[in-house]
Amino acid sequence: MSTLPPFAHLLGTDPWSVKVCLDDPEASHASRDYPIMIGKGLLSAANAFTGLPQAHTALIVTNTVVGPLYALALEQALQAHYPRVLHLSLADGEAAKTWSTLTQVFDTLLEHGCDRKTVLFALGGGVVGDITGFAAACFMRGVPFVQIPTTLLAQVDSSVGGKTAINHPLGKNMVGAFYQPRRVLCDLDVLTSLPGRELSAGLAEVIKYGPIADMAFYEWLEHNVDSLMDKDPEHLAKAVARSCQIKAWVVGQDEREGGIRAILNFGHTFGHAIESALGFGVWLHGEAVGCGMVMAAELSHRLGGVDRAFCDRLRHLIERAGLPVKAPDLGAEVYLEHMRLDKKAEAGEIRFVVIDTPGEARVRPAPDALVREVIDHCVRAP
Ligand code: NAD
Ligand code: GLY
Repeated sequence: MSTLPPFAHLLGTDPWSVKVCLDDPEASHASRDYPIMIGKGLLSAANAFTGLPQAHTALIVTNTVVGPLYALALEQALQAHYPRVLHLSLADGEAAKTWSTLTQVFDTLLEHGCDRKTVLFALGGGVVGDITGFAAACFMRGVPFVQIPTTLLAQVDSSVGGKTAINHPLGKNMVGAFYQPRRVLCDLDVLTSLPGRELSAGLAEVIKYGPIADMAFYEWLEHNVDSLMDKDPEHLAKAVARSCQIKAWVVGQDEREGGIRAILNFGHTFGHAIESALGFGVWLHGEAVGCGMVMAAELSHRLGGVDRAFCDRLRHLIERAGLPVKAPDLGAEVYLEHMRLDKKAEAGEIRFVVIDTPGEARVRPAPDALVREVIDHCVRAP
């Protein structure tokens, strides 16, 4: 298994192409490896689309916010490669990540006589990416799709690794499939229009990579969080590239989350409970993950892992990234009820990603009584 290249290498070199390696290079079947291209102006760059599967039709799936900003540029670029380019605009937001929204993609594909070669292009944040990926996995038992993530969160996390899903009223991302894109295009220019609250939400997933895998990157984030908040293009590019590099490294070892991939869920067990209990969209996913990491660090400490100083340090960085650090007071039983539905739970036993040593994570259960103490502490924390 390859080792993660040190962060220092990335700082000194051209970071703008990362590869997700899923297959044994000796394998006889066609490789499912794919590139993550990171750069400015990719939406209209001719070489960004060369080498993709050929088809009569390309379908751009976007939403009512992103479509008016970027769909035309994408459509023009795709017209050079596909005879017919269709366009579908979904409702915006987490609350739209539903079965009925998913059905709209199938309706569009069928109404326009699309075939199994049709290529789907997901232009938007994680919601559009997760829905489009799931639609691509299901339509005619699988058609190719390309991720064009337009939020920081989607560029550093959701567009990479092939997790696709919609929400169920009882739980987050409960209906979905592992289905890999053919390419990920992270155009850094689109981040200029991203609202500050969404930028912060994306930083939560960037920060996540430090405690689970890379404390050198974490220290760099501590030095540069203010300029990241100011959308410094060079620093954003490095944050996206390093995050993608870490995510590709993890997914390459464990595509279907039989083991190490679960560490990418640091903060998510608490975070998903916050999102589902408050109602999807009340807290942004990244906000819930930010607060969830504060809670997961506290749990790690109480289980004998990271020291108090590390919990304070993480909490401080999350706060500087503009994210909530005080947990909503839902009542411990509501948290526990939602967390028992978490996909990492086994036979009703909740399992958490914990940090024993900064930069190393593992998954383990925790006694309910201790989890209640953590919730109580994080609800009261100033
Ligand atoms: P989102 O898709 O709702 O986008 C956030 C908001 O920003 C939306 O209103 C969107 O329309 C708008 N927007 C997007 N790009 C913009 C731009 N360039 N300029 C202006 N506005 C823009 O939310 P998100 O944070 O991108 O993604 C969160 C979702 O991703 C959640 O559903 C979460 O479960 C999922 N997710 C999936 C994975 C995975 O591995 N598949 C990983 C992490 C998160
Ligand atoms: N965002 C968690 C994962 O991709 O596994």
